[in-house]
Amino acid sequence: MGSNATTLTTRRRAGTVARAVDATKVYGRGETAVVALEHVTLEIPGRRFTAVMGPSGSGKSTLMHCMAGLDELTSGHVFLGDDDLSELSDKELTLLRRQRVGFVFQSFNLLPTLTALENVTLPLTLAGQKPDPEWLDAVVDTVGLGDRLSHRPSELSGGQQQRVAMARALVTRPQIVFADEPTGNLDSRAGGALLSFMRHSVEELGQTIVMVTHDPVAAGYADAVVFLADGRVVDHMVDPTAERVLDRMKAFGD
Ligand SMILES: Nc1ncnc2c1ncn2[C@@H]1O[C@H](COP(=O)(O)OP(=O)(O)OP(=O)(O)O)[C@@H](O)[C@H]1O
Ligand SMILES: [Mg+2]
Repeated sequence: MGSNATTLTTRRRAGTVARAVDATKVYGRGETAVVALEHVTLEIPGRRFTAVMGPSGSGKSTLMHCMAGLDELTSGHVFLGDDDLSELSDKELTLLRRQRVGFVFQSFNLLPTLTALENVTLPLTLAGQKPDPEWLDAVVDTVGLGDRLSHRPSELSGGQQQRVAMARALVTRPQIVFADEPTGNLDSRAGGALLSFMRHSVEELGQTIVMVTHDPVAAGYADAVVFLADGRVVDHMVDPTAERVLDRMKAFGD
């Protein structure tokens, strides 16, 4: 007791939605072991848009997966609110992933046989719940798909598909949304529309979003940027602009 980790475990700053405490993730064993995360401690503030940046292989996706309860840490803790994910049963974790977390993958992961609207409400359908009509309206309005809601994913552009994926992540009104390079496959116009949507979700809908990106322009939409390198947090920037993020990347050669 009395270590830094213990202090952080028992005390959380007001407004923190999710946090990692001394999070370490090792893939494999012995000589082939890869340390993907090494003693990562960070807090994600609520109602804020946080970007995570870092070179390829620096552990960004691993961090997202572990914080979202999609993968387990080797040691350390991740919390959602006051819940330590490592203490939850499989059933509790499934419920947490379904009800309290939204995840947007780089590949859109939409179901091809469902319409855009059916894809958006899928998490509720799976949970046997009905959408809250006001919230669904707000999300669908924000996502700006208009008359394309009845179309199937194959009839939508990449940018539209990714906005459907983002609406699906928001439909359960999760405590936090993790988005792993959501603009990676989009041209700059479609990417800009998605980023504006995320910004709007944070400001108007009070959502909390964490986004992995390689793009300084995308990071410029966030309230703060966390920089990872070799599985460690190496820097933090508040109120980033694309220019400052680019300077930071040049300085560190990533
Ligand atoms: N399932 C796995 N098994 C073994 N090693 C893995 C696995 N997943 C990731 N790694 C390794 O862990 C390290 C971190 O990977 P991670 O995918 O988190 O990086 P990243 O920052 O998301 O990279 P990128 O920008 O390329 O997506 C890398 O060295 C990677 O090779
Ligand atoms: Mg990745």
